[in-house]
Amino acid sequence: MAVQKDTLNIGIVGTGFIAEFHLRSMIGVRNVRVAGVYSRQAENRERIVSLAQKLDLGPCVSFASLDQMLESGDVDAIWILSPNHTRLDIMKQIHDAVTEKRSNVFAVACEKPLARTISEAREMLRLAADAGLNHGYLENQVFCTPVLRGKEIIWRRAASTTGRPYLARAAEEHSGPHAPWFWQGDKQGGGVLSDMMCHSVEVSRHLLTDPDKPRSSLKVKAVNGTVANLKWTRPKYAQQLADRYGGAVDFINRPSEDFARATVILEDEEGNELMIEATTSWAYVGAGLRIQLELLGPEYSMEFNSLSTGLKVFMSREVTGEEGEDLVEKQNAEQGLMPVLEDEAGVYGYTDENRHMVECFRKGLTPSETFEDGLAVVQMLIGLYRSAEIGQTVSFPADDLEDYVPLVARVASS
Ligand SMILES: NC(=O)c1ccc[n+]([C@@H]2O[C@H](COP(=O)([O-])OP(=O)(O)OC[C@H]3O[C@@H](n4cnc5c(N)ncnc54)[C@H](OP(=O)(O)O)[C@@H]3O)[C@@H](O)[C@H]2O)c1
Repeated sequence: MAVQKDTLNIGIVGTGFIAEFHLRSMIGVRNVRVAGVYSRQAENRERIVSLAQKLDLGPCVSFASLDQMLESGDVDAIWILSPNHTRLDIMKQIHDAVTEKRSNVFAVACEKPLARTISEAREMLRLAADAGLNHGYLENQVFCTPVLRGKEIIWRRAASTTGRPYLARAAEEHSGPHAPWFWQGDKQGGGVLSDMMCHSVEVSRHLLTDPDKPRSSLKVKAVNGTVANLKWTRPKYAQQLADRYGGAVDFINRPSEDFARATVILEDEEGNELMIEATTSWAYVGAGLRIQLELLGPEYSMEFNSLSTGLKVFMSREVTGEEGEDLVEKQNAEQGLMPVLEDEAGVYGYTDENRHMVECFRKGLTPSETFEDGLAVVQMLIGLYRSAEIGQTVSFPADDLEDYVPLVARVASS
């Protein structure tokens, strides 16, 4: 992996919500050029190319096929930012182009979750390794500015003098995703447990890991999960989904969970028991997306709530205008007292995540989050789904879960 490039030329696959977030974050990243964009529809590609040019991240080109982008000779690394069910085909195409020497791409970064099942995640890792690609798993919460700063302070000042932290709590909640495929269990891989618990378990595992040791220094011993349908199966809300997505989402007959709870028991190298407690939902109606993180140890604690912002604005009922997400992600209102995150790309972690991936790929270093971490996350999620299905705690290692498909993903694809 001895690469040394002054500027990393990246090609983006996917032109939706998260592609825009990544582009906006890239203005805080050095030594990078957004060189190419691919998704199926020309108008989407043009939108993202224009944004890249406007942000001065180019020159950037729209490619009508993934192979054209891979074979252009102008792209070093691919950022996979397309829906979960498209991942493996895209990764296979990258693998084939590189192993057949049609492409000089040498690195790949992939959005969360790495895959829908353990065997899919393992295949993503195998394909990247077989093609000799450097790989990064895009879990932004690990790079959230409060997580970077909070973890550094807790471990340097408190854990070093009074003992390691033992409990991490995480919650990520909002009022529901913005595109139909998220609500379709077979495409997405599940419901909110797959979509958002992937953040919570990984940021918790990261906070609990000694900064001087690898993530593998913690072993998962057991997981216990609960899933529920709290809001979106109610007839009025199921109808809202059907209307919003032209019948493509059927939450009466094919629902996926809108609430999930997880307990993950881990052990460190000295046999200390550690705990992750996490809650995620698509049934939270507050000002917008709420990320709540806590880390507790014998003489200390840290806590972060993304909606407890320093900046707030108040708008009376006389202030009217269009609905938007210009104050916080998944914003639910435009009047009253509103929290504002003045640098969402930074606070949510995209800027530091992309800076880290770009620097690692440019220099041929292994990122702190790789496809191996993405696989470990999927193992925890699948264990949680299995636990919820059988109503029992699942002990790890759980080798029988390799081909396990969550109930809602199974039902939806039948
Ligand atoms: N880190 C986070 O907090 C976070 C937040 C949101 C999403 N995500 C992740 O990001 C990924 C994308 O989510 P999103 O919210 O951006 O979804 P989205 O808004 O629905 O956009 C999906 C994009 O993928 C493109 N696409 C669909 N099928 C494709 C294919 N076969 N090949 C290439 N492009 C394809 C679509 O464009 P065309 O129709 O033009 O192909 C569209 O631009 C998901 O894995 C999701 O889990 C992460």
